[in-house]
Amino acid sequence: MIKFTDEEFQRLTAYISEGYGIDLSKKRTLAECRMSLEMEKRQISSLTEFLSQMRADKTGRLAAALIDRLTTNYTFFLREQAHFDFLEQEILPQLSPAAASFQIWCAGCSTGEECYTLAMLLAAYRDHGGWLPPVRILATDISEQALRVAMEARYPSKALEQLPEAWRRTYCRTDGTGFFTLRDDLRKMVSFRKMNLMRPYAGHEQYDLVLCRNVMIYFNDAARKQLTQRLAGSLKKGGYLFIGHTELLPAEQTLLTCVRPAIYQKARRDGHEKGQRRVSGGIG
Ligand SMILES: C[S@@+](CC[C@H](N)C(=O)[O-])C[C@H]1O[C@@H](n2cnc3c(N)ncnc32)[C@H](O)[C@@H]1O
Repeated sequence: MIKFTDEEFQRLTAYISEGYGIDLSKKRTLAECRMSLEMEKRQISSLTEFLSQMRADKTGRLAAALIDRLTTNYTFFLREQAHFDFLEQEILPQLSPAAASFQIWCAGCSTGEECYTLAMLLAAYRDHGGWLPPVRILATDISEQALRVAMEARYPSKALEQLPEAWRRTYCRTDGTGFFTLRDDLRKMVSFRKMNLMRPYAGHEQYDLVLCRNVMIYFNDAARKQLTQRLAGSLKKGGYLFIGHTELLPAEQTLLTCVRPAIYQKARRDGHEKGQRRVSGGIG
């Protein structure tokens, strides 16, 4: 394994923290292991050399490779099911019949299991007679490698075990080679985009539901605060934010109220929602 000098590790952590919000300061061995694989593949013998080649590389390929190595893309279908139950049982039945659309943003979608879980849930809701306006799911991530997997939507058949039998039968197609894919109409519900959550994005729409789960757990405090403001700003009034169940939103003044563990709602009006609890030490 290629070891970093203290100075190299400091430069790497500063680059990743300032550019992407990710805090690697306590993950030196992990960073060394992952970057060693990349450097050995490219026959680069030190991090200093990698970083200087990366700076000179106008294609951005080395920077993308570094991000692919240093982000953690672990995810699976129906992860943290309480969120999907809340969506099905609380949010969807309350949609206004006048709603023109239902817009979802999966921020930090990784390899796509999260947004395709949503697509299957929404399709099942409709198939069982539930009313939905046209649905649009935007799924974004910083890792190009993760996004490639997500766009291909081809997963090992073993992952089917994570899904209810009816979803497997109706929405998934095995291809006989140990993999399965999703029905075309479900894949078409999702559009993917590379996006750094730490960079402003002009023209960002407002969403009925934003999922940003198990992303800020890797972030430094400043990035977590910045991201929370951004996510709150991306929600329509009355819209919901799902974060990971092990995550905490920073104690910042926003219009978000905790309605269930790891579920926040943006105020419908400028003020407190009647009957809802603001988290002490959390949002608001
Ligand atoms: C552990 S995965 C979470 C996937 C999914 N949301 C879930 O809960 O299963 C975290 C994802 O956040 C992405 N990520 C990390 N920093 C990011 C940033 N600055 N901008 C966009 N995505 C980022 C990573 O690439 C990774 O795919």
